[in-house]
Amino acid sequence: MEREVILSTENIQKRFAGTYALKGVSVTLKKGEIHALVGENGAGKSTLMNIISGVFQADAGTIYLNDAPVHFRNPNDAQLSGIGFVHQELALCQDLTVGNNIFIGHLPMKRGMVDNECLNRESRKILDQFGESGKSIDPQALVSSLRVAQQQMVEIAKALSSQCRVLIFDEPTSSLNEEEASGLFTVIKKLAASGIGIFYISHKMEEIFHICDTITIMRDGSVINTVPVKETNAEFVVSNMVGKELGNLYPEKSKERGEEILRVENLTGSPHFSNVSFSTYKGEILGLCGLVGAGRTEIARAVCGIDKRQSGDIYLEGKKLQIRCCRDAADAGICYLTEDRKKDGLFLEMSLIENMIAPQISAFSSNGFVSDKKAQQTTEQYRKLMNVKYSSAAQHIGSLSGGNQQKLMLAKLLAMKPKVLFLDEPTRGIDVGAKAEIHQMLRKLSREGISIVVISSEMPETVGVCDRVVVINVGKVVGELSGEKLTQANIVSTISEFSEKEKTYE
Ligand SMILES: Nc1ncnc2c1ncn2[C@@H]1O[C@H](COP(=O)(O)OP(=O)(O)OP(=O)(O)O)[C@@H](O)[C@H]1O
Ligand SMILES: [Mg+2]
Repeated sequence: MEREVILSTENIQKRFAGTYALKGVSVTLKKGEIHALVGENGAGKSTLMNIISGVFQADAGTIYLNDAPVHFRNPNDAQLSGIGFVHQELALCQDLTVGNNIFIGHLPMKRGMVDNECLNRESRKILDQFGESGKSIDPQALVSSLRVAQQQMVEIAKALSSQCRVLIFDEPTSSLNEEEASGLFTVIKKLAASGIGIFYISHKMEEIFHICDTITIMRDGSVINTVPVKETNAEFVVSNMVGKELGNLYPEKSKERGEEILRVENLTGSPHFSNVSFSTYKGEILGLCGLVGAGRTEIARAVCGIDKRQSGDIYLEGKKLQIRCCRDAADAGICYLTEDRKKDGLFLEMSLIENMIAPQISAFSSNGFVSDKKAQQTTEQYRKLMNVKYSSAAQHIGSLSGGNQQKLMLAKLLAMKPKVLFLDEPTRGIDVGAKAEIHQMLRKLSREGISIVVISSEMPETVGVCDRVVVINVGKVVGELSGEKLTQANIVSTISEFSEKEKTYE
């Protein structure tokens, strides 16, 4: 039986500063459908969803809700019509309780006051629908005390509190671990089964093929194709996305390694890790791998002087370094790419150029003045290198598409000409094509002599990109794999063998 259409758009157009972000987009969402939107970074996915949910106004075109044209002046309008949006960068009020966030805008009242009893009861009811992950959330807790996955549940609950008919997810799993993601999929499937239509934006093909019914592929502000998941495959989708066939996704590995560049000896930073030792070599890409929470990020941050360490020595090209803060590390040529670009990676209110020169402003200044020409030239050089797409040079970084923000962070670090680069989740939010570009770039940099250390929660990426990995578990180095031994199965067994041993010692 054909499912009923809930929402459709017809010929939606949107320009920013004269450049088209959407060139006439028509999509159709049915009741109970999980509809994926895919496309390269900057293709227009988030912009389209922002228009459907009243965040932006279209320049032309129409949105139909149950066949009737609607016009949303703001997100509140859209929410009242039943359109919920779980944003890529979560948008909750951190200092309010869970219950207040869920019912914000339509709090239950009694004699002119908020009816807290009703608020808690109704919040509980909605959260309980999410199974264990929802049950563990207290409606009276402050949102700031919740983990990202829990905050996401609150965002969904917020959408459900106003009887939503359409729910939009923008890269919802980018900060979730596997278990949390699979919990989210269960919730999404349940919501769809209850008749809600769902738009789902993601760069991860496996999850799209796992939960979606239909895929709409966008490129450069237009819809290229809409296909049922059952009748297609990842190869077709990706080649439609990038407009060409992608060959082997991972670059060739290095044939030989050069001299030692960085040596870390007995690094301890309790409670996160202890006695960690490893080295990096010229021309080699090293991976720090392990489960989320194993201590990889903490180790990288300590080497780069961002967090304090209790003990341990760090040598660069055989010379012992005194790293007391991140300035010391950066001066020596050791840089860190953060996994959390919103919190500590970029100045979202500033322009491209301002972000590029911020970490090394003195290098662009003479007599206390910034040389505009030099700043512009360098920005352009590295922007091109990383293929960062924007609509105008004065654009705030916050309005670049998510993947392009990530590329910009890499560009910014490369402009510092580092010797050792720690990259924490370097391709988070990056589309499949650009991801392959970044992998090639990393290989090129490593050939040119930059020592690269990758931390990635995607195991295929770790295995595909790294020449050697150091396996970390509960803050300790538990093994090392390289060459033919470097496989996903071996990483998993190295981790579990260690856990078994720990158990027998207890
Ligand atoms: N507020 C804005 N001001 C100016 N340009 C914008 C604004 N919002 C989006 N754009 C531009 O519109 C284009 C489409 O961006 P959009 O965020 O929709 O891409 P996306 O498909 O969601 O990409 P990603 O996968 O990287 O998140 C980009 O070129 C972006 O720079
Ligand atoms: Mg986006």
